[in-house]
Amino acid sequence: MSRNILRYTSGSYILLLSILSCLALLYACSTPKPTKVTDHALATVEIDETVYFPTPSGDDVAVLPGAYEIKTERYGIRLIAEEGTETESMLIEAKATNHGALIPRPMALMLSNKKASRVITLLRPNSERWDAWGTTRSDEPARAAQRFHILNTEVLQHLDTRKQARAIIPQFSLASVSVRYKDSKKSHKGKKLKTTWRLPVNDTLNSGSFTFTWRGYWEKSALQPSFIPSKVVDLQNLVKKKQCCITLTINGEEAPLTRLSFGKRGTLLTRVHLDNVRVQTWPKTVKVIVTKGKKTWESAPTKIYAKAISYYKSVLHPIFSHDRCTTCHALGTHDEIVDMHQYRIGIEKFPYEFDPEARPQNPTFCQTCHNASNLGNEWVSPLAEQNIDWKGMDAIHVCRKVTGPFTNKGGEVGPPLNREQFTYYFHKDPRTLWAVSDGLTPSGKDLRVPLSNKLSLWFRKVDPWVEAGTPCPSTSKFFHRQRETLTEKFFPRK
Ligand code: HEC
Ligand code: HEC
Repeated sequence: MSRNILRYTSGSYILLLSILSCLALLYACSTPKPTKVTDHALATVEIDETVYFPTPSGDDVAVLPGAYEIKTERYGIRLIAEEGTETESMLIEAKATNHGALIPRPMALMLSNKKASRVITLLRPNSERWDAWGTTRSDEPARAAQRFHILNTEVLQHLDTRKQARAIIPQFSLASVSVRYKDSKKSHKGKKLKTTWRLPVNDTLNSGSFTFTWRGYWEKSALQPSFIPSKVVDLQNLVKKKQCCITLTINGEEAPLTRLSFGKRGTLLTRVHLDNVRVQTWPKTVKVIVTKGKKTWESAPTKIYAKAISYYKSVLHPIFSHDRCTTCHALGTHDEIVDMHQYRIGIEKFPYEFDPEARPQNPTFCQTCHNASNLGNEWVSPLAEQNIDWKGMDAIHVCRKVTGPFTNKGGEVGPPLNREQFTYYFHKDPRTLWAVSDGLTPSGKDLRVPLSNKLSLWFRKVDPWVEAGTPCPSTSKFFHRQRETLTEKFFPRK
């Protein structure tokens, strides 16, 4: 069709058309879009580390670890998160060739060249082969990734090996997985996908108690299960004595069991305490092996991907968005300071309408009233130019603001606060401490505070977040746009 246009139309028409198609392309690939998948014969690819791919619109996207279904489109391949449940998808650039083999249904896998380059290779029954190259490096353009080539025969061999491994029916298979964190009664349950699992995992807390239950198996077309763990005498003895022989491995390493019992419907319940379990440390592969004399029962290695639970959103945002924090952060100008005080305590008690000293970042003035000994001389409100009035904003935006570039009281934009500075703000800054647990005003009124007289609880809540590098919730659990211009949100408003 494009050739026809070239032959029969004027130059301006071509220009218009190409602008339109560029716009359409940009729209199609610039945001993750909701997708409903009905075609069940899609190949799935497992991506175990963050990989950056170029998109047809010219920018890069970070694809986070997970299992993705693949669909081909005119300009590349579309990755569909969560294996076809109704969620998000992203189009990435890919090149089509031929594979010339007979395959019954589409198959895909990710291969590496032992360096940073990665390729998703998709083989379709119609003999099409699609390759999408990417890189694990965030510091170079994804398009610069080395395009190493793998022969058709090698790809088929990899697929065959995988098929054989999956054909073995293991005695145990994972029936459920859940995690529970200290100080929390809630347990988060994992969800089974086609060949992998997805478990909600905290982005901040680094240790937790994980429960894996294992069911036996059903022989094909059998009326009842052929193997129910709780019904096997050998297993009953091993579980009763809580001794040896029942091993759980995580990424090939044995994890000591903190609980061993039979669970619901005759399953074998294993529980372990794990450290180093923040969301970036997944996927993890679990496996259970039971040996008794010469007998062994085992599961297939089962891969579990993580889905981030935002600690900031669930634990800290209720505090950051509390009136005690936002009221002061909203006093960025003379007028705002005067209005708030006159509204609350009357014009007579705050007759500074024309006093230029009634302004933000002016401790000497504020101290004439806010002079409690625990406040020192730091009772000030931030300048509007510092742009940290986050009243009414959602968790993602407040978090990004707080962890983004810091604007000082001179209006200069600098790097984000570092760990020491955060620790200072949260542990020592008299304004923060006042807002979290004190709330006493110059008029003697006790204002409502989030954690009245519970500073140690505040530290317990905020410290792990600083320790984890102040992670923020994200809009997508699967795709992140690269080179996002974060800065504009933090520069002083014009
Ligand atoms: C009395 C006024 C006041 C109160 C109350 C207050 N703050 Fe602030 N806050 C400030 C000022 C002023 C600054 C800017 C400090 C500077 O210029 O160095 C600031 C800065 C911050 C920063 C650093 C901002 C950045 O861009 O990194 C954080 C985080 C913060 N406040 C959190 C809080 C939290 C959370 C609360 C409530 C628990 C709170 N503040 C209560 C006045 C206040
Ligand atoms: C004339 C005395 C006086 C001066 C000067 C004064 N304040 Fe206040 N301020 C008060 C009183 C009294 C209250 C308590 C109002 C109430 O009871 O709701 C108050 C409340 C506040 C609050 C509200 C706390 C909350 O969370 O609701 C903030 C923030 C505040 N002042 C900031 C400042 C800043 C910043 C300055 C200096 C620019 C300043 N004040 C100067 C008397 C004063």
